[in-house]
Amino acid sequence: MLFETFSAGGCRSYLVGCERTRAAVLIDPELSLSDHYRGFLLQNGLSLRYIVDTHTHADHFSAGRSLSKAMGAPVVMHRLSPAPHAELRLDDGDMLVAGDLKLKALHTPGHTRDSMCLVLGDRAFTGDTLLIGGTGRTDLPTGDPHALFDSLFDKLLKLPGETLVYPAHDYKGRSHSTIADEIATNPRLQKTERAAFVAMMRDLDLAAPTHLTEALRTNMSGGKTVAQLLAEAAAVVPFMALAELDDRLGANSADLVVIDLREKEAFEAGHIRGALHLPRGQLELRVNTALPDPTARIVTCCEFGKISTLAAATLRELGYQRVTALDGGVAAWREAGLALDLPG
Ligand SMILES: [Fe+2]
Repeated sequence: MLFETFSAGGCRSYLVGCERTRAAVLIDPELSLSDHYRGFLLQNGLSLRYIVDTHTHADHFSAGRSLSKAMGAPVVMHRLSPAPHAELRLDDGDMLVAGDLKLKALHTPGHTRDSMCLVLGDRAFTGDTLLIGGTGRTDLPTGDPHALFDSLFDKLLKLPGETLVYPAHDYKGRSHSTIADEIATNPRLQKTERAAFVAMMRDLDLAAPTHLTEALRTNMSGGKTVAQLLAEAAAVVPFMALAELDDRLGANSADLVVIDLREKEAFEAGHIRGALHLPRGQLELRVNTALPDPTARIVTCCEFGKISTLAAATLRELGYQRVTALDGGVAAWREAGLALDLPG
C-alpha cells in the first residue's frame, strides 16, 4: 500500500493507494495543498477514486469540491453531512473499495453529527473524533459531548489496541499513535464515566477557530472561499508592475487608461496621475459610457490590488481584451514613493 501524510498547519490529510491497481483514496484534503495532492498522484501513477471528508470541518477549507471537479472522483461523506456536493454518502459500517484497499466507515458523532472514522487494515483515520492525546471539541455546531462519549467508548476504542491512529489534526508533529496508547495516556480518555467526560468537554472553554464562519459556509455549501474567488480572477488576468505603469505614465502614453476603483474619498485623497475614477460599485452600470473602446489598454487599480483583480476579470469577461490589473494597489504605489496626484 502506498501511504502519504500531508500537513498544512496542524491539519493532516492522508493519501492511500493500491500498489496493484493504482487506485487511490484521499482523506481530509485541505484546499491550500490541492496542487501537492495532484502532484503526488501524478508522480506515483495513481488514479484518484474517492475523496473523503471525515466530517464538516469548521477550522480549515476542504479541497473536496474543487478536487472532485478537477479529477472526477466523488466527495464521500457521512449521510448526515449538509454538503450538497457530497455525492457518495455513507452509513455506519459501509465500506469503500479501491483496488485492494478496503476502508470501512464507522459513524462516530460527537465532534460533529456527521463525523466518521475510516478503518483500513491495521490503521484508523480518526478524523477529529480521536486525536493524539486529545479529542475533537464538542462546542461547535452539531457537536455533542454525550455522542462523543458513546462514539469513543462504545465504538472507536473497541478496535484492537494495536490499531494505528491517524487523526485529522496534530499540532506537535507526531505522525500517529495507537488505540492502546491513547487508552493508556490520553488525558481525556481517563474520564471513563459519562458525566465526568461530558462535564470536562463542557468546561473546556476554547477560543473559536480562525476562519470558523468562512470554513462552515464553504464546506457546508461547496461555495468558494474569498481567496479562491481572488485566485480564479488572478488566473485569467495579466498584471502590470508598479514600475512598468510608472514608466508608461512618464512616456505619456495616450493609449493607456488607468481606472481607479476606490470610493470617492480615497480617490480624492490622492490617485495615480490621469486615473479615471470608476468606483467598483458602479463598474457594470457605467462601463458602456466610461469605456467606449473595447480595444483600449486598461489598467485597474484599487487600494490593495484585490478588488482591481476582480474588476479586471469582470472587464475581460465583458470583452475588454487588453485589461490588466496593477500588481499591488495604490497603497503599494504610495509606499514605493511614486507620484500621486494630491488634492488642492
Ligand atoms: Fe473538525
